Amino acid sequence: NLMGTNNYKDIKDSDVIIVTAGVPRKPGMTRDDLLSTNLKIIKQVAEGIKKNSPNAFVICITNPLDVIVMALQKYSGLQTAKVVGMAGILDSSRFKYFISKELNVPVKNINALVLGGHGDTMVPLLNHTTVNGKPLKQLVAEEKLNLIVEKTRKGGAEIIKFLEKGSAFYAPAASGIEMAESYIKNLKKTLPCAAYLNGEYGVKNLYAGVPVIIGNKGAEKVIEIDLDESEKKNFELSILAVKNLFSAAIKIDKDLAN
Ligand code: LAC
Repeated sequence: NLMGTNNYKDIKDSDVIIVTAGVPRKPGMTRDDLLSTNLKIIKQVAEGIKKNSPNAFVICITNPLDVIVMALQKYSGLQTAKVVGMAGILDSSRFKYFISKELNVPVKNINALVLGGHGDTMVPLLNHTTVNGKPLKQLVAEEKLNLIVEKTRKGGAEIIKFLEKGSAFYAPAASGIEMAESYIKNLKKTLPCAAYLNGEYGVKNLYAGVPVIIGNKGAEKVIEIDLDESEKKNFELSILAVKNLFSAAIKIDKDLAN
C-alpha cells in the first residue's frame, strides 16, 4: 500500500516514509536559504513520525538536505540507521547525464559518484569516474570537466529556473524510490545517500553524502572509498559547509545542540 498524505494518522506503522514536506527554492535561491522555514516544518514532521511510526525507514528529501535530515533524526529520536537523505543518486544521475551528452555515450556505460553535501559544494568524484571502463580524465579535457562539475552542482537550480514555481520532482522521486526498494526488498544496494557519519571519512556526528549499503536494517554500512588529494580537499570543503549550516540551525533552535 503506497500513499501520499499530509495527515499524520495515515502514516501509522508505515514501513517507509518519504518526507518531502517543506518549501522549495524560488529562482535565484540556494538550498541553504530554505533553512529556517524548513527546519520548523521538519520539527513537526519528526514529532509526527515519532508518535505514529517510530519503526519506519525514513527518507528525507527536504532541503537544505544534509542539515534537514540530521535535524529530522535528532527531533524524531529514531536510530541514525533508519533516517537517511536522498541526494547522491540524483546528483550522480545529473553528473552522468552531462558526461553522456559530452561523450555521446549511454548513461548506463558511465560509472560515477557524487559525494559530500547536497549543495553548491557537492563533490563529483572525477578520479573515480569511468566511461566504458576508461578513466573519465583520459576522455574529457580539464576545462570541460570543470564545466560538467559546475552544471552538476547547478542542475537543481537550472530546473527551478525552467519551472519557476517549484523544484525538480521526477528524478528526486525516482531516486527516493530506489532507496525505498533497496530497504523493503533487502537488496543491499550501495547507493550514494546522505547518511550519518560516525568516524567514516574522518567525520563524526554529521550527515553527508557517502556511498551506503541500504538493506532491511536501513543504512547498514558506509563504504569508504579512497579519495585522492583533490577529491579529499573538495570533500572536506563540502563537509565544512554542512557543519557551518548545522551551526546556523542550532542558532535557530537550541534543541538541536544535543
Ligand atoms: C534538486 C533539489 C531537489 O537538487 O535539491 O533538484
